[in-house]
Parts: sequence; structure tokens; C-alpha cells
Amino acid sequence: MTRIGGFLTRVACCFILILVVFFGGGGDVFALTDEECLDCHGDKDFITEKDGETISLFIDMAMFGKTVHAENGCTSCHADAADGVDEHPVPLASVNCADCHDRVGEVYQNSDHGKAALDRDDELAPTCKDCHTKHNILPPTDKESSTYPLNIPFTCGRCHREGTEMTKTHDLNQHNVMKNYSMSIHGKGLFVDGLIVTAVCSTCHTAHNVLKASNPESSVNRNNIIETCNQCHVGIVDMFKNSVHSETVTRTGKRLPVCHDCHTSHTIADVKKKDFRLIIAEQCNNCHAHESETYLETYHGRASMLWGGEKTAKCSDCHGSHNIQPEEHQASMINDANIVETCSQCHAAANQSFTTYLPHATHSKKDKDRYPYLYYTFWAMTGLLVGTFAFFGLHTILWIPRGLIEKFKGSTGNKTE
Ligand code: HEC
Ligand code: HEC
Ligand code: HEC
Ligand code: HEC
Ligand code: HEC
Ligand code: HEC
Ligand code: HEC
Ligand code: HEC
Ligand code: HEC
Ligand code: HEC
Ligand code: HEC
Repeated sequence: MTRIGGFLTRVACCFILILVVFFGGGGDVFALTDEECLDCHGDKDFITEKDGETISLFIDMAMFGKTVHAENGCTSCHADAADGVDEHPVPLASVNCADCHDRVGEVYQNSDHGKAALDRDDELAPTCKDCHTKHNILPPTDKESSTYPLNIPFTCGRCHREGTEMTKTHDLNQHNVMKNYSMSIHGKGLFVDGLIVTAVCSTCHTAHNVLKASNPESSVNRNNIIETCNQCHVGIVDMFKNSVHSETVTRTGKRLPVCHDCHTSHTIADVKKKDFRLIIAEQCNNCHAHESETYLETYHGRASMLWGGEKTAKCSDCHGSHNIQPEEHQASMINDANIVETCSQCHAAANQSFTTYLPHATHSKKDKDRYPYLYYTFWAMTGLLVGTFAFFGLHTILWIPRGLIEKFKGSTGNKTE
């Protein structure tokens, strides 16, 4: 009885052991465990040489232990490090984050960064670890994370900052990106005020689907930029979508403006500040050349040109910015119903008759049909002016010999006296 019992116990034990080996600890029973990794890799002075460079093989557990992958353990990324008994093979297979993060991996693979790194082996293009680090991966909400909003411009800036090898060897459309961004209202909001709900590189470009602006799929392509800004500037976008500049309102073959046509992309300024106020006419000028030209011939335009006149009326002071409508639209700021209010922003005493001053009207031939009254008045007045000068000019010239004769006569008279 006892012998049979002992035998059965032994069989059961073996069975359990087999279960443990195959289904429980996996290969760990015969191979290296996480703790064992640290027998060697826990040594601060563990270094190696690779391509003439000294690489540290030390892994700081105090740091790794706090990261999102602490519980996964070393071999979840370095699976083949578990092969072998006392030593693991070298080199190990390179880590593939997409094994677990397949959704992100797929997006990244089709991005310009991914294509450059994976398809073209561009060593200067970022892979997961360039943005997330290797062993200090924290959630984007952690202040210490390389993907925390305050740190993102530096994470991207490592390569996109001015003067790096990357910017010298790659011909990208935008230059001085870091410098410009830092000086922009978004950059100042972030760096000066610590405003983390402001726009950082990845809110406009996305984190994993970075594409050229010319790609119709890109978040910064003309077709998509309004939605990109709409992540935060919801009220403005709603207003803009009802304006004459919106494709939902105006069907035209001409190019309609989008956010960065007026605001730029990396040098977005505070709209109350001089920098912005002084470029506004230029931005409108890109598409409304005729009105801009005639504006410059008016008092407001001249003042703007001559003494930088920050305070004088700019296009947007009379037309609005995101609510621009044609004159006949009742919401237009220059519609008869609203124009007094528009001028009285600055001319406190403005009334209906004051507003008959036409801000774009000039004497140029182009405006003959539009403002015939003004056109002919101008030429009538100019004619009168030129006529008057001509008449008195001739009169003066004819008068000179006579004046000289009179003077000569007078002086000889004095001598005889
Ligand atoms: C007995 C010491 C020892 C142990 C234990 C050990 N390693 Fe290593 N590890 C090394 C040596 C030696 C190298 C190679 C150094 C060189 O390239 O000269 C290395 C290199 C590596 C590398 C770099 C591989 C490459 O391709 O360059 C990784 C990753 C690594 N180990 C991970 C681990 C992990 C994970 C564990 C635990 C599962 C572990 N190691 C356990 C000694 C050890
Ligand atoms: C989230 C995945 C991940 C985990 C978990 C992880 N590593 Fe790594 N490790 C990497 C990546 C990525 C590299 C860079 C090499 C590569 O891309 O294959 C790397 C490289 C290394 C290197 C080579 C030296 C270096 O810094 O490039 C060593 C040694 C190493 N790991 C050891 C460990 C040890 C020990 C653990 C557990 C304490 C661990 N790793 C856990 C992702 C990971
Ligand atoms: C160019 C830099 C960059 C690269 C390359 C990159 N990431 Fe990210 N990643 C970020 C940033 C920035 C965030 C922060 C969240 C955000 O802004 O959307 C993030 C967030 C994440 C998140 C958490 C949020 C989410 O989307 O699920 C995961 C997981 C992630 N990345 C994994 C990866 C993996 C895996 C790779 C490689 C296939 C990778 N990342 C490549 C910059 C990068
Ligand atoms: C063995 C599977 C595995 C591998 C390989 C792996 N991860 Fe993870 N990762 C996870 C798990 C599990 C989590 C925690 C659960 C979660 O939050 O999604 C996580 C979380 C993250 C997060 C935080 C996500 C968040 O929303 O807070 C980032 C970022 C991340 N991983 C990036 C990487 C990068 C970069 C690599 C490659 C260097 C990598 N992971 C490799 C399994 C893995
Ligand atoms: C490790 C260096 C590196 C890092 C970090 C990096 N980039 Fe890039 N980036 C590149 C390279 C290289 C290219 C050119 C890719 C190509 O040739 O298509 C590029 C291209 C771009 C482009 C233009 C797209 C194109 O194909 O021309 C944008 C936009 C961009 N990166 C944004 C970012 C953002 C946003 C981040 C941070 C979340 C970032 N990059 C982080 C190296 C980097
Ligand atoms: C407010 C949104 C916004 C922010 C924030 C932003 N960008 Fe951009 N970025 C754009 C837009 C829009 C374009 C397209 C510009 C154009 O074509 O005129 C662009 C273009 C680029 C390009 C050139 C793309 C190409 O097609 O060659 C690079 C590189 C770039 N950005 C990198 C960055 C980096 C790095 C940061 C962070 C320091 C950043 N951007 C922050 C909106 C933004
Ligand atoms: C036709 C040119 C133009 C376009 C297109 C444009 N803006 Fe503006 N935006 C302006 C002007 C001009 C101002 C200054 C208004 C003022 O002085 O009251 C302004 C002001 C702003 C302000 C400051 C708040 C305010 O209303 O004064 C924000 C934010 C803004 N714009 C965002 C956007 C976004 C987002 C888009 C795209 C949906 C956009 N803009 C499209 C010209 C434009
Ligand atoms: C992630 C949110 C976010 C996104 C996306 C974003 N912005 Fe902003 N933006 C802000 C915040 C927050 C401020 C206020 C910053 C401050 O005052 O310090 C701001 C300020 C501005 C201002 C100046 C407002 C003023 O009162 O002078 C303009 C103009 C502007 N953004 C335009 C844009 C444009 C154009 C885009 C798209 C290309 C964009 N923003 C995308 C959050 C965002
Ligand atoms: C990218 C080109 C572009 C920019 C920049 C632009 N506009 Fe326009 N604008 C248009 C187009 C296209 C229309 C539609 C009417 C048309 O077909 O001519 C229009 C219509 C208008 C109208 C209504 C006129 C009418 O005949 O219906 C006004 C007023 C106007 N824009 C003022 C401005 C002002 C002020 C600015 C600068 C703050 C500006 N626009 C910037 C392209 C632009
Ligand atoms: C002092 C106010 C004022 C300023 C500044 C001003 N405009 Fe006007 N704009 C008007 C008025 C009033 C009209 C309608 C009467 C007219 O056509 O002269 C008008 C007409 C227009 C029209 C034709 C609108 C239509 O519905 O037919 C366009 C386009 C236009 N302006 C663009 C601009 C641009 C671009 C600038 C800046 C370079 C500018 N305006 C500066 C007041 C102004
Ligand atoms: C953003 C402010 C602003 C707006 C809006 C504005 N103006 Fe002016 N305007 C000025 C300034 C500043 C001067 C210069 C006044 C001075 O030198 O004392 C001026 C000068 C003038 C002058 C010549 C000098 C004078 O005071 O008689 C006329 C005429 C004039 N504006 C008409 C208009 C009309 C009409 C409108 C509305 C369609 C208008 N303005 C809207 C700021 C504005």
C-alpha cells in the first residue's frame, strides 16, 4: 500500500514539475531570470565597445522599476536574452515595440518617420526609442516623461533644432523650427507660463503619423489644418465656417485662406501685438492685391506704411477676421447697418455721413467704373489745380522782364538825383 502510495506521489510530483516547466515559468527554469540579468547589468561599470564607442550596459533598476514596463520584466522586450543557461547570445535581436503596441506600430510604419527609418534605413530618423527612451518609458501624463507636453519640443528638437546633422542633411520645408516655435504664442505659453494645454509639436503634427505638409493625409495639410486647430480653438472655427472664406459657404475655384495663411505655423503671434498687426495687410494682400493696393493709397494705409501706424485701421479692423462677409451680407462689418459701429471703434464721433469716406476709393483708372463720381471729381480737381498753376506760372514768367525794366528805370533815376 505505502509503496504504491509513494510511487503515485512521485508520479504526481513529476507531473506537476513537468506542468511547471512547460506552462508555468516557461524557459525561466533553465535560463536567466530578471534578477539574474542584474547580476551583470546591475553593475555601474559594466561597459562595452561597439564601433569604437563606449556603451554602458548598466541598467538602473531604481529608474526602470518606476516605468510602465517594470512589471513586464527584461525578457518581455529582450526575449532571446532568456536563451542560454549562464550566458545569453550576443548580439541579441533588436527590440520590436510593435510586438505589443501593434496599433501604434502600424501608424508609425506608414508615417514619414517610419518610412525613413524602416524602409530607407535612415539612421537620423526616429524609432520608438528615440522619442520614448529605452528604459525610462513613462506615460505621457508623467512630468518626467519625454512625451510630457513640456518636454515634447525638446524630444522633437533633438533632431529638428537648428544646426543638427539631421537639419543639415534633410531638406525640410520649415527652418529654425525650434527657435520660431519657442518665440510663438504657443511656445511662450508653454515655456513661460507652463501652459500644458497649448499646442506642442505633436498636437499639430501628431505623435506617430508625422507626414509632409504636402501629403493630403497630413494633419498640417491645408485640407486638414482647420480641424487640427479645432482641437482647441473651437469657437473660432465655428465662426470661421460661416464666413465667406469657408469652403462650406463659398464655392469658388480660387484659393480660400486657412488658419496658417493668416497666422503662420511656427511664428503664431499674439494678435494684439505689433508683430501681428503689421503683417495682416500683407497676408490679405496675397489674395486681395487690388484692395490692398487701394488701401495703401488711403489715409489709413499711408499711416500704416509711413510710421508703422500700429493703431491705424487694418483690413481686419473693418472687415473682421473669422467672420468676414461680403458687403451686402447683413452680418458684414461694412454693411450699412454696421459700418458706423465699425468706424466708431476708433472714431468716437463717427456717424453715417462720416462713413461715406470710401476706404478703398482712389482715382486710379481701375476704379473708374466702381467710383465714377470720385474718378471724375479727382480729374476735375486735378485739372483745376494744374490749370491754375499754369496760368499763374505763365503770368509770373511774363512779368519778370517787365519787373526788371521797372527796376532798371528806378535805379537810373536815383543816380541823376
Ligand atoms: C553573466 C552576465 C550576464 C547576464 C546574467 C546577462 N547579461 Fe546581458 N550581456 C552580458 C554581456 C557580456 C553582454 C555583451 C557585452 C558585449 O557586447 O561586449 C551583454 C549584452 C546584453 C545586451 C546587449 C545586446 C546586444 O545585442 O548588444 C542586452 C540587451 C542584454 N545583455 C540583456 C540582458 C538581459 C535582459 C539579461 C537577463 C535576462 C541579461 N542580459 C543577462 C552579460 C550578461
Ligand atoms: C520596453 C522594452 C524594454 C524593456 C522592458 C527592457 N529593455 Fe533593454 N533595451 C530596450 C531597447 C529598445 C534597447 C536598445 C536596443 C534595441 O533597440 O534593440 C535596449 C537595450 C538594452 C541594453 C544594451 C545597452 C543599451 O542601453 O543600449 C541592455 C544591457 C539592456 N537593454 C538590458 C535590459 C535589462 C537588464 C532589462 C530589465 C531590467 C531591460 N533591458 C528591459 C528595451 C527594453
Ligand atoms: C517622433 C516621436 C515618436 C516616435 C517615433 C514614437 N512615439 Fe510614441 N508617442 C510620442 C508622443 C509625443 C506621445 C504622447 C502622446 C501624444 O502626443 O499623442 C506618444 C505616445 C505613445 C503611447 C501612448 C499613447 C498612445 O497613443 O497609445 C504609446 C503606447 C506609444 N507612444 C508607443 C510608441 C511606439 C510603440 C512607437 C514605435 C512604433 C512610438 N511610440 C514611436 C512620440 C513618438
Ligand atoms: C511585451 C509587450 C510590450 C513591449 C514589447 C513593449 N510594451 Fe509598452 N507597454 C506594454 C504594456 C503592458 C503597457 C502598460 C499598459 C498600457 O498602459 O498600455 C505598456 C505601456 C507603454 C506606454 C505607456 C502608455 C500609456 O498610455 O501610458 C508607452 C509609451 C510604451 N509602452 C512604449 C513602448 C515602447 C517605446 C516600447 C519599445 C521600446 C514598448 N512599449 C514595448 C507592453 C509592451
Ligand atoms: C531622431 C531624430 C528625429 C526626431 C526625434 C524627430 N524627427 Fe521629425 N524628422 C526626422 C527626419 C530624419 C525627417 C525626414 C524624414 C524623411 O526623409 O521623410 C523628419 C521629418 C519630419 C517632418 C516633416 C515630414 C517630412 O517627411 O518631411 C515633420 C513635420 C517632423 N519630422 C516632425 C517631428 C515631430 C513633431 C517630432 C517629435 C514628436 C519629431 N519630428 C521628432 C528626424 C527626427
Ligand atoms: C500650431 C501648430 C504647429 C505646431 C505647434 C508645430 N507645427 Fe510644425 N508645422 C505646422 C504647419 C501648419 C506646417 C506646414 C507649414 C507650411 O507648409 O507652411 C508645419 C511644418 C513643419 C515642418 C516641415 C514639414 C514639411 O512638409 O517639410 C517641420 C519639420 C515641422 N513643422 C516641425 C515642427 C516641430 C519640431 C515642432 C515643435 C517644436 C512643430 N513643428 C510645431 C504646424 C505646427
Ligand atoms: C483671413 C485671415 C485669418 C484666417 C484665415 C484666420 N484668422 Fe485668426 N485672426 C485673424 C485676425 C486678423 C485676428 C485678430 C482679430 C482682432 O484683432 O480682433 C485673428 C485672431 C485670432 C485668434 C485670437 C482670438 C481672437 O479672436 O482675437 C485666434 C486664437 C485665432 N485667430 C485662431 C485662428 C484659427 C484657429 C483659424 C483657422 C480656423 C484662424 N484664426 C483663421 C485672421 C485670420
Ligand atoms: C492644444 C491646443 C491648441 C492647438 C491645437 C492650437 N492652439 Fe492656438 N492657442 C492655444 C492656447 C492655449 C493659446 C493661448 C496661449 C497663451 O495665451 O499663452 C493659443 C493661442 C493662439 C493664438 C493667439 C491668441 C491671442 O489671443 O492672441 C493664435 C492666433 C492661435 N493660438 C492660433 C492657432 C492656430 C492657427 C492653430 C492651428 C494651426 C492653433 N492655434 C492650434 C491652444 C492651441
Ligand atoms: C488665400 C487667399 C485669401 C486670403 C489670405 C484672404 N482672402 Fe478674402 N477672399 C478670398 C476668396 C477666394 C474670397 C471669395 C470671393 C472671391 O471669389 O473672390 C474672399 C472673399 C473676401 C471678402 C468678400 C468679398 C467678396 O467679393 O465677396 C472680403 C471682404 C475679404 N475676402 C477680405 C479679406 C481680408 C480682410 C483678408 C485678410 C485679413 C483676406 N480676405 C484674406 C481669398 C483670400
Ligand atoms: C477703414 C475701413 C477699411 C479698411 C482698413 C479696409 N477696408 Fe476693405 N472695405 C471697406 C469698405 C467700407 C468696403 C466697401 C466699400 C468699397 O468697396 O469701397 C470695403 C471693400 C472691400 C472688399 C470688397 C468687398 C465686397 O463685398 O465687395 C474687399 C475684398 C476688401 N475691402 C478687402 C480689404 C483688404 C484686403 C484690406 C486691407 C489691405 C481692407 N479691405 C481694408 C472698409 C475697409
Ligand atoms: C482701428 C482703428 C480705426 C478704425 C476701425 C477706423 N479708423 Fe479711420 N483712422 C484711424 C486712425 C488712428 C487715424 C489717424 C487719426 C489721426 O491722425 O488723428 C484715422 C484717420 C481717418 C481719416 C482721416 C483723418 C480724420 O480723422 O478725418 C478718415 C477720413 C478715416 N479715418 C475714416 C474712417 C472710416 C470711414 C472708418 C470706418 C469705415 C474708419 N476710419 C475706421 C483709425 C481707425
